[in-house]
Amino acid sequence: MDNPIKIFRSPYLLAEKFARELVAAINESAAKKRPYTIVLSGGSTPELLFSLLGDHFSGSADWEYAHFFWGDERCVAADNSESNYGMARRKLFDRIEIPSSNIHRIKGEADPEAEAVRYAQEILKFTESENGLPRFDLIILGLGEDGHTVSIFPGLIDLMDSDKICTVTRHPVSNQNRITLTGRVINNACRVVFLVTGKKKAEIVEKIVRGKENFKNFPASHIVPVDGVLSWYIDIEAATLIEV
Ligand code: 6PG
Repeated sequence: MDNPIKIFRSPYLLAEKFARELVAAINESAAKKRPYTIVLSGGSTPELLFSLLGDHFSGSADWEYAHFFWGDERCVAADNSESNYGMARRKLFDRIEIPSSNIHRIKGEADPEAEAVRYAQEILKFTESENGLPRFDLIILGLGEDGHTVSIFPGLIDLMDSDKICTVTRHPVSNQNRITLTGRVINNACRVVFLVTGKKKAEIVEKIVRGKENFKNFPASHIVPVDGVLSWYIDIEAATLIEV
């Protein structure tokens, strides 16, 4: 069986390998004339991946078949430096030929509750349904040092079983409103990949990957796809405390 934990000597090598795989998956789907639905993570870790795709793979993928969504968004305007969509637009979408109708952003500037409802409708319109839930082809996740993923923070574990597709949460430190996918939709995906880099993440990676201490308190430890594949793409710094 393919080892679900893949360790890379640098964030660059990790991003490059993942970029190649992503482009191959999009093209494989395009060959079948089938849209490929991708959920992007926010935060800083995916920035290198987006830049690589924009700079080195812009002509390699059949972007017309790629539909991009977000796992979560900060409730700020798209041109705000905090905007997950804004970062992806600058680093990737402004550099590739993709129909704007394929970019399904969360409107961080809108009323959060209303936007969570609207975004759920948008997801239902553009994804296949399985087990009564939207089924994405690929979900890319990040991991916070506190064990959060998307914007499901410790203390919000109940959102892993929510009946809602999206909901509003608050960042526990900044108090910033967030709109986030919930757990059952994530665990209904065909493929889920954690991209994690940097020494700061070593402790939380060890706890979750090795199921140590109170790991069930960490939302990220509840990412267990129902009938999909889970992988961890980690650089050597984030993997310092785990041996594979
Ligand atoms: C967000 C995210 C969040 C992120 C982690 C890791 O909007 O902040 O989606 O879940 O993935 O906080 O963030 P870094 O990659 O910046 O460490």
